This record gives sequence, structure tokens and C-alpha cells, in this order.
Amino acid sequence: MRRILAPSILSADFKTLGEQMKATEESGAEYIHFDVMDGIFVPSISFGMPVLSSIRGATGQVMDVHLMITEPARYVEEFAQCGADIITIHLEACEDPGAALDKIHGCGKKAGISIKPGTPVEALEPYFDQAEMFLMMSVEPGFGGQSFIPDSLGRIRDLRKRLDERGIEKDIEVDGGLYHSNVGDVLQAGANVIVSGSGVFKGDIRKNTVEFMEILRTYE
Ligand code: DX5
Ligand code: ZN
Repeated sequence: MRRILAPSILSADFKTLGEQMKATEESGAEYIHFDVMDGIFVPSISFGMPVLSSIRGATGQVMDVHLMITEPARYVEEFAQCGADIITIHLEACEDPGAALDKIHGCGKKAGISIKPGTPVEALEPYFDQAEMFLMMSVEPGFGGQSFIPDSLGRIRDLRKRLDERGIEKDIEVDGGLYHSNVGDVLQAGANVIVSGSGVFKGDIRKNTVEFMEILRTYE
């Protein structure tokens, strides 16, 4: 399976966002992770459609939109129009997660479904056929810069095993507290799409990205 880095711009310096995204692209990151927070599903508020419209096309990267909002189906069309390539919703945020995934597909986009650290892995099973990507939160969603929750490793292993048992080869994305020091464990556990905010944007962005890519390649 391909290993992909998805730098989360939540930790970027917005004064020079386009240049910073470009630095990650030139250093090998194929996705940009775009965290949308509504102040209800999670305590904080981040950014939304106008920012996505503005940065689309700044690079050729895949726009990986993570909706941490209540009833995300309400905004799927807008995010699709503003440049999202992959739209991930939270299982816990939806009355009917399957309908939200259908709506994403109806807009011609790839659909992801995410669970918070306290939600059982088996809750994803009904969506194994429907979703293209499964996002395991390894911190409580809402803020960048938190510490990786060690239990997440067992949860990623469990999810990969459940998919493998059914012969399903799909993306497992992991988000929260990932750095050069621990990303190998997460890849080893079965993840193949790695989100990192602080680990990419704090310090030397090019160097951070190149080092992540070197580690990712050793697991291909
Ligand atoms: C947290 C967000 C993450 C966040 C990760 O709720 O979903 O994408 O930006 O940031 P780091 O890598 O700093 O933990
Ligand atoms: Zn995220």
C-alpha cells in the first residue's frame, strides 16, 4: 500500500500559507490535511470554505478535508465545490453516517469516516464497503500539538486486521501527535496515511517533510 503524508495546515503560519504548502509538496507530501472545526462538535473553531477556495490550486496536492462539525452532511456540497478531494466526516457527529457518505459520493468525491479515541473500532464496520478511507483519531479532536494516545496503536492494528479479514484494502489515516519519533509505530500497526501538523510546520518545514518521507518509504 502507498504511504502518504498529509501535513495539517492547522499548525502552519497563515501569513505565508501558500509558500509553506509548496514546501511540503516539493518535499514529497501528496496531501494537505484541512481541519474544519465548528465549536460544537469540538471546542475550537478553525477555518472553512473561503480558506479552502483560496488555497486550492496553490499546489497540486490532494485536499484532504477533515470535518469536525455536527451533521457534516449540511456542508458537503460547499466543501466539494470549494476544492475538497477527500471529505471525511465523524461517525459521532452524524445521525446517519451512511447518508453523509452517500452525499460525499454524490458530489464525486472520496469519502472518509473518522472515530474519536473513545469510540469502539467495530463501529466502523458498517461502513467498510462504503467509505474509501478510515480516519483513526490518536488525540481527542479539536486542537493541534497534543500528545499521541498510546492505545491508538492497538486500535489501528485491530482496524487493519478487520479490513484484512474481509479482503478489503483501503486507507487507514491516523491524526494527532505524530512525529518522526513515533510515526514508524503507526505505520507498522497498519496505517498508510499520516497526518502531522506540528511535526511538519513547527521548525524547518522542508527538512521535517523530507524526514517523514524517508520514514514512510521504509514501510512501503
Ligand atoms: C486535531 C486535528 C489534527 C491536528 C493534528 O483535532 O484533527 O489534524 O492538526 O495536529 P498535530 O499533528 O500537531 O497533533
Ligand atoms: Zn485532522
